[in-house]
Amino acid sequence: MYVKEAGRNVKTVELDKSGNVILIDQRALPKFRTVKMKTFRETAEAIRDMTVCGAGAIGVTAAFAMAQAHMENVPLEEAKRYIDSTRPTARNLFHATEKLLNSSDPVADARKYAQEEEEACKAIGEHGAKLIQDGFRIGTHCNAGWLAFVDWGSALAPIFVAKRQDKRVTVFVDETRPWLQGTRMTSWELQQEEIKHFIIADNAAGYYMWKKELDMFIVGADRIAANGDAANKIGTYEKAVLAKENGIPFYVAAPLSTIDINTPSGESIQIEERAETELTRFEGHRIAAEGVRARNPVFDITPARYITGIITPKGIVKPENIKTL
Ligand code: MRU
Repeated sequence: MYVKEAGRNVKTVELDKSGNVILIDQRALPKFRTVKMKTFRETAEAIRDMTVCGAGAIGVTAAFAMAQAHMENVPLEEAKRYIDSTRPTARNLFHATEKLLNSSDPVADARKYAQEEEEACKAIGEHGAKLIQDGFRIGTHCNAGWLAFVDWGSALAPIFVAKRQDKRVTVFVDETRPWLQGTRMTSWELQQEEIKHFIIADNAAGYYMWKKELDMFIVGADRIAANGDAANKIGTYEKAVLAKENGIPFYVAAPLSTIDINTPSGESIQIEERAETELTRFEGHRIAAEGVRARNPVFDITPARYITGIITPKGIVKPENIKTL
């Protein structure tokens, strides 16, 4: 995607000619800056500390970390163990390290993996855009745009394609506490693309659904189980339930690297819990009384029965048919 501030097309993650991984620093957004990871361990730590986030971006970053490990003569089994320990929920990370584990040319294969993921997102955009009518008002949660992949994104790809087809859309962007991926990343991406949007408080989406001000919801996914249950950013589940209550189609968009047919249902998906301080502090300042505890699961499970369809690079399928892809 073209980034005005950078004055050029930029990818979320790249492997440069010297073997460095170049990432957009997602913790700094909406201020644009890139960071350079020189070793596979540095790259893995960038996944753990959320310099890079979003399932697809994490997957490709993991693939590039495997390529770096190969260049550093680190056994790929050891590198895989280290990279796999960074974040547990997104299937894409494990999909990438499994693919690279037995590669005879990890550098070339990691680049190929990135290219294929980008093409998959473009295809998601083309299929998903068919669902979007001129004038549609679309809700989304967290960031599932190009920053969450290499380019295009999953949930936002249909919106980017619809824009190029001259359809007018308005996006309602959940702010997505506590990391504010909606406020800091999704709205930044939409602004770069000149797509009309509003940030709304996480707990305002139900109100707009009830007021019939939303025509559809599209979200991404971190892992989709064989029965079509989908893990995504905490808060997705309640949006899906409210969408069904209000008769609003609720779509999940994801490449095949997110689908985990070996996990039978959402109950078997490991949900990451992050530090309490993400809730008790804000921008470095304590906002809860000293001694107060917090619970911080960062993903939830949307049962398949709330999902209207899954937009994939191969087309739009019913969640119960996901394992046929
Ligand atoms: O904790 P994050 O920012 O990595 O979580 C990101 C999300 O939950 C996205 O919605 C998800 O990865 C789907 S889009 C790739």
